[in-house]
Amino acid sequence: MGKTSRVIADLDVDALIEELNRAIADEWLAIAQYWYGSLAPEQTMNPVVKEAIKKALDDEREHVNELAERILELGGTPLKNPDQWNQLAHCKYLEPPNKLTDLRKFLQDALKGEECAMKAYNEIAKLTFGKDHITYQLIVHILSEEAEHEEMFEDMLENLPCDFK
Ligand SMILES: [Fe+2]
Ligand SMILES: [Fe+2]
Repeated sequence: MGKTSRVIADLDVDALIEELNRAIADEWLAIAQYWYGSLAPEQTMNPVVKEAIKKALDDEREHVNELAERILELGGTPLKNPDQWNQLAHCKYLEPPNKLTDLRKFLQDALKGEECAMKAYNEIAKLTFGKDHITYQLIVHILSEEAEHEEMFEDMLENLPCDFK
């Protein structure tokens, strides 16, 4: 973003870049959580749940890329040190259950994560609304996918077979 558009947009670009990097930290932590969840053995997991975790995992990876691309366009440096993930994330890392088959706990944590991510993206959307249309559109797109994840995980939690409850 050029100097002039910074002034016109009345937007603190450095603060925005920092928020986008915090969102990258959230995404990496979600990836770690979902990746672990995806390790549950095939036979213990409903294929629908397995597919949902894979879908969320793919989406979060895409979100990291999209956020990083936007940070670069804004002249910033995407977060590159994993030490900063926990430090900067808006959302706390929820360690996956020790038992890979504890699907109920996994889904509950996934829901907490999605809810927290949506709140953070909502704030970034408010920050950029009417000021930085490109970032705003990206954030709304990501937000809509987090909402899809929430719905997906909610449905699964409600429909867990009794032996998982
Ligand atoms: Fe995401
Ligand atoms: Fe998500």
